[in-house]
Amino acid sequence: MKKIALIFGINGQDGSYLAKLLISKKYKVHGVIRRSSSINTKRLNAIYEEPQNRKFFFLHYGDLLDTGNIYQLINKIQPDEIYNLAAQSHVGVSFKIPVYTSNVNALGTLRILEAIKEQKKKMKFYQAGTSEMFGNSKKKYQNEKTLFQPQSPYAAAKVFSHHIVVNYRNSYKMFVSNGVLFNHESPVRGETFVTKKIIKALVRIKHNKQKILYLGNIYSKRDWGHAKDYVLGMWKILQYKKPDDFVLSTGQTFSVKYFINKVAKRLKLKIKWAGKSLKEKAYLMPSKKVIIKIDKQYFRPTEVSYLRGESAKARKLLNWHPNFNLNTLIDEMINFEKNEINEKN
Ligand code: NAP
Ligand code: GDD
Repeated sequence: MKKIALIFGINGQDGSYLAKLLISKKYKVHGVIRRSSSINTKRLNAIYEEPQNRKFFFLHYGDLLDTGNIYQLINKIQPDEIYNLAAQSHVGVSFKIPVYTSNVNALGTLRILEAIKEQKKKMKFYQAGTSEMFGNSKKKYQNEKTLFQPQSPYAAAKVFSHHIVVNYRNSYKMFVSNGVLFNHESPVRGETFVTKKIIKALVRIKHNKQKILYLGNIYSKRDWGHAKDYVLGMWKILQYKKPDDFVLSTGQTFSVKYFINKVAKRLKLKIKWAGKSLKEKAYLMPSKKVIIKIDKQYFRPTEVSYLRGESAKARKLLNWHPNFNLNTLIDEMINFEKNEINEKN
């Protein structure tokens, strides 16, 4: 019999990759989407376009704010595995809407756990935790033993979710696990996250479709992987013999500025930096046109300056290894943006 999965946040970046993975593994996949005034299932088009998938793929309206709806979906679908990928996932935005962010990212998790607790069937649960929880850790590498020091409403809410998952595991013997995932990107990354924003803008600048890219702090460092590798890790976490918590990361870290320079180089855009702080700019050579400016609206009240993960536990116990590196990730994202421009022309 086919296993049944339920994914909250199925139309997000990770949800769409995870849905494809689970369908390839012969699961019946149910997903929860929010009602929206414009079409918000674009990332799922590839699944829908395969007629045979229609028998194994189902979408339901729902919201992590709606306790009754969550209970009814879980009670009706009776999934074997539940993945909670739904979140207000933008760290910067969480400072603007902290109460909403906490309601979704913290209490939303608890609402799902409560619904699972009421079921007779044993259901496995995956919680999408984040390296942001490490906040301003001074450790060279962060792993499962590193103290959480959240620096945003987003991260503080995710810390609550992490701990409540551990509490439900211990209190009620539920199969509930946390992934603590470092940044992961892809061609379908949300357009307000920095990697996608940079690549989209530089490709458009190269094709004379955009003049300037505005950014915030370009000196923070991140451990960037590919979403495709990370959703495989999520699945492996739920296949492990017992519920547990795992860090997934590449182990490498680069600054946003390094990322920009790498993308520019791969696009054969020659850029030169000058100025400091808010006055820092990147000039396109030899024309000396300004193509990148710093805008203080993109700075956060408190920043996470340095993230670098150590995922030895997942590599050993789950045999999980990232296949993409920074170059292959960037190349895939660049090619996607180039195709977007070609299709529109
Ligand atoms: P994403 O693209 O922003 O997707 C988030 C999903 O959550 C979307 O489907 C969104 O639906 C849904 N959602 C938001 N609020 C909701 C609500 N109130 N009720 C139901 N669904 C709601 O994020 P992602 O990059 O795929 O990340 C997936 C999860 O992993 C998130 O929980 C994120 O915090 C966490 N995470 C991500 C990373 C990363 O680097 N990508 C790293 C660590 C952890 P709409 O389309 O309607 O907005
Ligand atoms: N978004 C954004 N936009 N970030 C910028 C910009 C800009 O214009 N300019 C500089 N940055 C800096 C941010 O200040 C941050 O230090 C870094 O680029 C990465 O920002 P994001 O791409 O927004 O990602 P994030 O690290 O804050 O959060 C992502 O990764 C987390 C895992 O560590 C999100 O996917 C979170 O949901 C996830 O938990």
